[in-house]
Amino acid sequence: KKVILAYSGGLDTTTIIPWLRENYDYEVIAVCIDVGQGSETEGLEERALESGASKLYIDDVTDIFVNDYVIPTMKAGAVYENKYLLGTSIARPLIAERLVHYALKEGAEAICHGATGKGNDQVRFELTITALAPHLKIIAPWRIWDIKSREDAIEYCIMHDIKLNMNKDTSYSRDKNLWHLSHEGLELENPAIEPNHKKILQMCNTLEEAPDESEYVSIDFEEGIPVAVNGMKMDGTSILRTLNSIGGKHGIGVIDLIENRVVGMKSRGIYETPGGTILYKAHQELEHLCFDKETYSFKQIVATKFSELVYNGQWFTPLREALSAFVDETQQIITGTVRFKLYKGNLVLAGIESPFSLYNEEISSFSTGELYNHKDAEGFIKLFGLPMKVRALMKEKNNML
Ligand code: ARG
Ligand code: SIN
Repeated sequence: KKVILAYSGGLDTTTIIPWLRENYDYEVIAVCIDVGQGSETEGLEERALESGASKLYIDDVTDIFVNDYVIPTMKAGAVYENKYLLGTSIARPLIAERLVHYALKEGAEAICHGATGKGNDQVRFELTITALAPHLKIIAPWRIWDIKSREDAIEYCIMHDIKLNMNKDTSYSRDKNLWHLSHEGLELENPAIEPNHKKILQMCNTLEEAPDESEYVSIDFEEGIPVAVNGMKMDGTSILRTLNSIGGKHGIGVIDLIENRVVGMKSRGIYETPGGTILYKAHQELEHLCFDKETYSFKQIVATKFSELVYNGQWFTPLREALSAFVDETQQIITGTVRFKLYKGNLVLAGIESPFSLYNEEISSFSTGELYNHKDAEGFIKLFGLPMKVRALMKEKNNML
């Protein structure tokens, strides 16, 4: 009997390997899904095998992550609770989809993950597994075992003869991919405490470290998809890497968020999304230029719902797919170039162009033009204000004015 383990090489998922073998007599097949977390995948196979796994798959899905998950979410303008660019949330359905893939390939009976019983990630992993392969058993050790702390886990590993070459000091609970890096836990659990950016941040400079000189960056979009940075054509992954480095340098995209988790509690985290913040903002600016008023207004409703679906782990649902179809339909005219000035955490719009711009200088200009007749406004305001007039007349009749 086999089990697929979502493996990161950290203390938790390393401890799970002997625990699975002891409690279930499973052959453990470790799978590490690479969504751009980078150096974390080095030396992983050795560690997995030493801990008792029979093999390790490392699956680099960074391009799929960027093109099929991140960019569609950005095109939707999805921002959870008006702040969070969904960096952890959006990776979960893809990771779970890959776990299911390996479970089917290996004929495994179960999938095991290291998310805790208090968080969102367990929900996201398990909803996706259920949607794609309802027959698979799911094992979540944190909801079952007696291990309560890092110290317990280290002791368990020592008792099972597993060498740990990881540092003992406790750190933040972090989750990293090409889109973002999250930090939760320790003193951050008290929202009254100011985050020590110097100690926390890894993708971004602090505002103090950011250069004293501003820098310009331009992004080209075609049908809502970013295709070039500073005029240089690149694939989505390279665009994100480039913008992460420019944005990180200038301290762009650091948020301090108290969010509502799916399981009911609030939690506090610091999230770094340098390149993502530039992309979201640039895309939004193009929509301001090219959308008609009604489409703009309705798409905001879609964006809110989309963000909730992604946050909750409801990616593989008919509603998310239908909303994506709506978003794609609106993106046909989101083509053009957006330019920003970056300075000490600020993104300042520095010019925007599109062949589909609905901005008409002749109409909008303060100097009188041919296309707009000031006199037309008078009749318009009379009809637009008719309900107010009728109500005021009624109030007058009743001495209510
Ligand atoms: N609170 C964020 C979210 O739910 C970040 C979660 C980070 N996950 C982690 N395993 N450290 O999307
Ligand atoms: C976890 O509980 O495993 C991490 C935090 C979260 O999933 O929200």
